[in-house]
Amino acid sequence: MSSSPPRREGHRSPFIALEGIEGCGKSTQIARLAEHLDRNGRAYRITREPGGTPFGDALRDLLLRPEGEPLDGLTELFLLEAARRRHVREVIVPALIAGSIVIADRYADSSVAYQAGGRGLSTELVEQLNDLATDGLMPDLTLLLDLPADVGLARVAGRDRARDRMERERIDFHRRVRAAYLELARRRGEERYRVIDARRDIEVVTDEVLAAVAPLLKGRDA
Ligand code: TYD
Repeated sequence: MSSSPPRREGHRSPFIALEGIEGCGKSTQIARLAEHLDRNGRAYRITREPGGTPFGDALRDLLLRPEGEPLDGLTELFLLEAARRRHVREVIVPALIAGSIVIADRYADSSVAYQAGGRGLSTELVEQLNDLATDGLMPDLTLLLDLPADVGLARVAGRDRARDRMERERIDFHRRVRAAYLELARRRGEERYRVIDARRDIEVVTDEVLAAVAPLLKGRDA
C-alpha cells in the first residue's frame, strides 16, 4: 500500500493548523471555527499535537508532565516526531481521504518553534525530521495566533490548572518560540501562513480566523 499522503492541489479537503505560544487562545478559536463549520454543515476533524492517538497521548504525558524527569531538546524532538508520524498516518491522512476538513491544534511547526527556537536545536534538523515523520504533508494554511510572551504567560497564570513543563519555562524561552514562529511566517509567505494579532478581543480574532479560512472552504464539497 502506498504511504504517500494525499497531495494538496485541490483534490482533497483542506488541512488547517493553528499555532502560537502558550495562552494565545488556540482552543477558543478552534471551538469557534468548529461552530462555524457546524453551522455550514461541513464535515471536519479536530485533532491536536502532541497527542491525537492513544500512543501520542501517552507521549504527551511524558513530555508535559511537570514532575517528569528533565528531557533534553533532542529527546523531546524524537518523542514528538514518533507521535507525529502516528498522528499523520492514523488520523490526519484518513480524515482527509474521507473528505473531512482537518483542523490541527499544533502540528510540525510547533517543533520548529519550540525545539529549534526554544530549545536551540537546528531548524534544518527539525524540518528534516518533520518532513520524514509527516511524509511531507504540510497544512494548506497555518494560522499563527501571535502575541507577546508576557501577555500569553499572564493568561496561562490566570488559568485554574497546574502549569505543564513547557509553561514553566522562563519568559526568554517563550520569546524565542514566538520569534521562531514569526520567522516561519515570513519564510512561508502569506498564502500559507497568516499572522493574526491575538491580543485583541476574542470576537475580532474569530472574525479574522474565519476570513482567513473562507477561501479554502469555498468551492469544495463537505
Ligand atoms: P498546548 O497545545 O498549549 O496544549 P494545552 O492548551 O492543553 O496546554 O500544549 C502543548 C505543549 O507542547 C506546548 O507547550 C508546546 C509543546 N510542543 C512542543 O514543544 N513541540 C511540539 O512539536 C508540539 C506539537 C508541542
